[in-house]
Amino acid sequence: MTARRVFLPRDAAAIAVGANDIATELARALDDTDQLSIITRTGSRGMLWLEPLLEIEEDGIRYGFGPLIPADVPQLVAGGLLTGPGDVTHPKALGAVEQLDWMLRQTRLTFARCGIVDPTSLSDYKELGGTNGLNKALTLEPQMIVDAVKSSGLRGRGGAGFPAGIKWQSVRDASADQKYIVCNADEGDSGTFADRMLMEGDPFCLIEGMIIAGLATGATKGFIYLRSEYPHARIALEQALSIARQAGYLGETIADANPSFDIELRIGAGSYVCGEETALLESLEGKRGQVRAKPPLPAHVGLFGKPTLVNNVLTLAAIPFILANGAEAYADQGFEKSRGTMPVQLAGNIKQGGLFEAGFGMTLDELINDIGGGTASGRPVRAAQVGGPLGAYFPPDLFDIPFDYESFTSMDGLIGHGGIVVFDDLVDMAEQARFAFEFCAIESCGKCTPCRIGSVRGRETIEQILEGQAVEANLTLVEDLCETMKFGSLCALGGFTPYPVMSAIRHFGEDFRSRSPAKFSHGGKS
Ligand SMILES: Cc1cc2nc3c(=O)[nH]c(=O)nc-3n(C[C@H](O)[C@H](O)[C@H](O)COP(=O)(O)O)c2cc1C
Ligand code: SF4
Repeated sequence: MTARRVFLPRDAAAIAVGANDIATELARALDDTDQLSIITRTGSRGMLWLEPLLEIEEDGIRYGFGPLIPADVPQLVAGGLLTGPGDVTHPKALGAVEQLDWMLRQTRLTFARCGIVDPTSLSDYKELGGTNGLNKALTLEPQMIVDAVKSSGLRGRGGAGFPAGIKWQSVRDASADQKYIVCNADEGDSGTFADRMLMEGDPFCLIEGMIIAGLATGATKGFIYLRSEYPHARIALEQALSIARQAGYLGETIADANPSFDIELRIGAGSYVCGEETALLESLEGKRGQVRAKPPLPAHVGLFGKPTLVNNVLTLAAIPFILANGAEAYADQGFEKSRGTMPVQLAGNIKQGGLFEAGFGMTLDELINDIGGGTASGRPVRAAQVGGPLGAYFPPDLFDIPFDYESFTSMDGLIGHGGIVVFDDLVDMAEQARFAFEFCAIESCGKCTPCRIGSVRGRETIEQILEGQAVEANLTLVEDLCETMKFGSLCALGGFTPYPVMSAIRHFGEDFRSRSPAKFSHGGKS
């Protein structure tokens, strides 16, 4: 009997919980080189609580089993997993993966292929629509590509939410002998992993987006700035870049057309602020990652002084869909001024953590309690931090806020890169506020005083509050300091640190005001 195809993620999150051990057990059970070829390593579907998630294919439908431990494998193989109908009564059997509620409720535009294709197979990629966007772009005038990006309403997914089309137009309009595309893959926000998942699970999609960006703006060279903490993404990208080059998609010509474009992969050194676009450019130039004053904008004076388009992984990876299916198909999704889909990342103390791509507009309550299933600890949700370490904390009574750029800005928050970190009722929000200042102090590039000094003074002042010292006076001082940082910092690291601090004070004031001097002074010693 012919063995059925088996799919198992090679995604870092799946590997972290044992996907490679499952692969080893499968190899042992198969014990035959020909049979081994039936195993395809894919990206992750994004249902991280089900990893390692193994899938088998029958009549074009994939059935899932997870979360597996190595001991499940011999049992599943003996039950006919690979050759027969499979043991659908097995306690780890999930049924048809695409029919799971988590999958059905999504609108997967950017992540359409992730978890399905072999990330190193260009033919898999093309079979599921890959390169259609590029083929379309090659038939268009560059300005028409920029117009499509504008009409799609796509905004930067790296954090600032700046309209992508306007940035593309600026780079296109700049005249220079050399222009660059820089992909920001530094993904340092807490609770975020969408860039990593995309690069590991569907790297050709990012490459295609960058090539289209080159065609539109006249840039002939691209860089991917990847954080050093992503070794699996590095391998996936290196493989994909090499395959794309051999297949004629990168180099002197692109798919036999005239313009040339190539991409170089660069690895960052592990600094949060190097995700800020100008610090990133400094780092790419081999200098210390320190923020540049703006203007000039990178679109005018960027890498090596040349016009440069800096976009996040998800922004660039949305481009192939927009070109292939039309700007309207993308703009049809979403909510008010936030068009398209957002790959939301559910993390922290959450029962069903993972990546959930949907049109903007779902509420925090739907995302956390319905999709995410509440906390992993089973205790009540007390807070959610949205948008990374510079994002605000929200209490459950504000969870009816729709997930879109403007709604979060109006609440002194941000959606950032789409990360939601959930906390249960055991969280100490005064400690979280202290951590926000500490994080800023550690990661500050040191260029401006409000951030460099303010973050340290802020941490010290919260520490006094934690010890119950002059609480009200110190809270006033923190508020004053936050105002100075918000309006006086050169970049958003210092400028947005007030968001987590002030939201913690505003919504969870009792955690600051309940400190007892006797209990906390001198580290508890009397
Ligand atoms: C401290 C700091 C860290 C940042 N880190 C990232 C990051 O890791 N990835 C990212 O894409 N953008 C990051 N940004 C935003 C970038 O500066 C820039 O806005 C973004 O790369 C532009 O791409 P987009 O328009 O596609 O979002 C960061 C900004 C700041 C202030
Ligand atoms: S706000 Fe902080 S990270 Fe940004 S430029 Fe100033 S010192 Fe550097």
